Amino acid sequence: MHTTDGHNGPDIQALVDDGLARIEWVHTHSPVMNTHVRKIVSDGSLRGKRIAVVVHLEAKTAYLAKLLADAGADVIAAGSNPRTTSAPVVAALRDIGIRVVSEPDGDHTSWEAELRAAADLEPEYVIDDGAELTMRIGIHRPNVFARLKGVSEETTTGTARLYAMQEAGKLPFPALTANDARCKHLFDNRYGTGQTTVQAVLHQTSRQIAGVPFAVVGYGYVGRGIAQYASALGALVHVIEADPVRALEAHMDGHHVGSAASTLPDARFVVTATGGMRAIGAPEVAHLRDDVVLANAGHHDLEIDIDHLAQVAEGTTEVSAQITSYALADKTVHVLSGGALVNIAGGSGHPVEIMDLTFAVQGLGAHHLINTPMTPGVHVLPKAVDDGIAAAKLASLGISLATARQEQQDNSMDWIDQIELS
Ligand SMILES: NC(=O)c1ccc[n+]([C@@H]2O[C@H](COP(=O)([O-])OP(=O)(O)OC[C@H]3O[C@@H](n4cnc5c(N)ncnc54)[C@H](O)[C@@H]3O)[C@@H](O)[C@H]2O)c1
Repeated sequence: MHTTDGHNGPDIQALVDDGLARIEWVHTHSPVMNTHVRKIVSDGSLRGKRIAVVVHLEAKTAYLAKLLADAGADVIAAGSNPRTTSAPVVAALRDIGIRVVSEPDGDHTSWEAELRAAADLEPEYVIDDGAELTMRIGIHRPNVFARLKGVSEETTTGTARLYAMQEAGKLPFPALTANDARCKHLFDNRYGTGQTTVQAVLHQTSRQIAGVPFAVVGYGYVGRGIAQYASALGALVHVIEADPVRALEAHMDGHHVGSAASTLPDARFVVTATGGMRAIGAPEVAHLRDDVVLANAGHHDLEIDIDHLAQVAEGTTEVSAQITSYALADKTVHVLSGGALVNIAGGSGHPVEIMDLTFAVQGLGAHHLINTPMTPGVHVLPKAVDDGIAAAKLASLGISLATARQEQQDNSMDWIDQIELS
């Protein structure tokens, strides 16, 4: 096992160098962060602000942490899931002087302790993923919670948690839902997760996808992206979706739509993307075919009910570092990455260009929270900030925007005067 505390192993310098090289690769491919974001956050307003960055701790997150630290913030880094923390990245962040509370190769127990350690460092602002640190500060550290000045949240799941806190009257600070910025969910959830989930599933299994029934559970932006990329590679995509409008959308996008009972008996791959728990629970397991591959792309590592599988299995085999096979009475099912987010725990995470947009939203979100008086509650990043990120990305691609001239716009409201109320 790697050691990352900077003292205990002959490998540490190699680990640091590996991590620094990964962060430099991200730097090289992040035009929006390097120009637009760096310029805005370097106005001095972040100086001395204690910001916890709690996102999957890999090289792209490390680059966000470094950029905020370069702007003068006092950054604390922590992983947002137990299985997605990278050893070289942790070593590199420590080497450049950023406090990291997480260790690689942890489990749920160590991860809980790490998040409490992050809370004990008393962040004023949190860049969160799944609201994992925010909710733990609320539950376990009431004094720190009372002093929190703002949160910027990365995911659909975390946004739902923040709204639940608001509805319960327990959100006493402003929280930006980065996820609801168009420059986040339109690209990260759909293209980022779509590409990297399919990539990770195929890389881990060395299995063929063309002509093969491939089930996607949940047809939000994430499910849509996975279906789109699987379909582009020739898979026969089947969608299981609880929301009628989204199920209809999946149908019109050209996918088969059906219940778990009708879909799962044929599926050779099943990928969950619901943001909920036990999308593949005991009732669904009963419908699975022999030799099916199960993977998860949703925030929780509980979308595939691993506990149930472990309970009913007659035996388990670790086929590789990423594949666990459960021998059930009537079939064998294979789970990738222990049911954690397959594209991050078992892949290299989102494409750099996608995270350049997502972390532009998060970095500018933190800057906005620090510089703008806001009421407590959930807020969406102002459209102008979102537009500015897209414009910077387009400029980096050399793409010019059209401008609608006055006579091209339908903004005459004269006809309103002709409406008479009786
Ligand atoms: N893996 C990644 O890198 C990554 C990236 C972005 C978001 N996420 C996470 O992916 C999850 C999905 O995100 P999203 O933006 O698509 O969310 P979403 O809420 O837009 O979509 C989820 C869909 O799942 C459906 N659903 C919920 N429970 C279901 C069930 N039991 N059976 C069938 N359908 C069900 C819902 O009706 C909804 O349409 C979230 O947890 C999000 O945080 C992961």
